[in-house]
Amino acid sequence: MTGADAVRQAVSAVIDPELRRPLGELDMVRDIDVVDGVARVGIALTIVGCPAAERISSEVRAAAASVAGVTEVALDVGVMSPAERAALTERLRGGRAAREMPFGPDSLTRVIAVTSGKGGVGKSTVTANLAVALAERGLAVGLIDADVHGFSIPGLLGLVGADGSVPQPTRIDDLMLPPVAYGVKVISIGMFLRRSATDGPLGAVAWRGPMLHRTVQQFLTDVYFGDLDVLLLDMPPGTGDVAISVGQFLPHADVIVVTTPQSAASDVAVRSGLVARQTGQRVIGVVENMAPMTLPDGSSLALFGEGGGADVAAALSTDEHEVPLLVSVPLSTTLRTGGDTGAPVVVSDPSDAASVAIQTLAAGIASRPRGLGGRALPFRPA
Ligand SMILES: Nc1ncnc2c1ncn2[C@@H]1O[C@H](COP(=O)(O)OP(=O)(O)OP(=O)(O)O)[C@@H](O)[C@H]1O
Ligand SMILES: [Mg+2]
Repeated sequence: MTGADAVRQAVSAVIDPELRRPLGELDMVRDIDVVDGVARVGIALTIVGCPAAERISSEVRAAAASVAGVTEVALDVGVMSPAERAALTERLRGGRAAREMPFGPDSLTRVIAVTSGKGGVGKSTVTANLAVALAERGLAVGLIDADVHGFSIPGLLGLVGADGSVPQPTRIDDLMLPPVAYGVKVISIGMFLRRSATDGPLGAVAWRGPMLHRTVQQFLTDVYFGDLDVLLLDMPPGTGDVAISVGQFLPHADVIVVTTPQSAASDVAVRSGLVARQTGQRVIGVVENMAPMTLPDGSSLALFGEGGGADVAAALSTDEHEVPLLVSVPLSTTLRTGGDTGAPVVVSDPSDAASVAIQTLAAGIASRPRGLGGRALPFRPA
């Protein structure tokens, strides 16, 4: 291998931090030569002002410098032409046309929508921690914050800066690259809202059905999640427009229903499960959240009562399809403060009782084979 070949090999293996693929595979490596120990390395970034440019450049420099015989690296950073970029986005879409849904019935990604009847039962908190726990198990995980009006996932996963800003997805033409938090690829409407000049909080979203529908569709079609094992959707509470849109776009999705142990919460939780089922989705289980917590003196505090999760699971079970209570997540101060500070408790305090419960949930989900397993196949074996 010549020096230039060795440098090309090293540079080609550098991983693009946003696309999470090697530069060689992304056709970002250009002319390379080595003369008298000086490696001249050309790379082409996707867009001008690519936010990852600095990191890519320094890793390319280091990769080239690590090759034996290279004493100096001269980096020439260019930008892809529109045609090259179009070829790249086409490849990233895996040959699918723009605006086509990658999570259709033939996709190997498990899609799990997390719903609830009542609001405030801890759906987003559980979903964010579940996503992180699955990613920690080595799965490729995406998370769509489908609660367009009440988005909270960026905050729960620490994607909000000290000044309240949320990172915007990088765009390559009409493809958006989701920010990554704790190994989870995340998309949320909160990433598209700008603060107004006068007041603090991010802008509010006051949209009706068609705009919500379009937003959910864009999250599913225009965001480059890559090859995911699991795609989680944090649903808004109840059975409104977004739930109906998601049911239309993802009729093959699995659904987890979150409820508190309180019976008033469980009745509406059952309804949200039944609506999901009407669109063809499969309710794979119930998560009871805010279950009794054990106090330091060993006694139990059942702030929201007991038994709601089992009740919802029983009410959603049919003769053909049993819906299990997957796990009971206890009340936990560290779970709540972790959400407030954007440090998921499954990472910051894995031995917390709520963490343990969510890890158990993740283990159960991860143990089911990825792909079409468990789904009705369109043919019968001979
Ligand atoms: N097990 C728990 N113990 C203590 N606090 C919890 C627990 N689960 C959730 N919380 C807290 O309850 C509040 C509501 O949680 P969260 O926002 O996750 O609920 P939600 O169901 O997503 O709400 P919404 O319906 O508004 O989307 C948050 O302040 C969260 O920190
Ligand atoms: Mg929520």
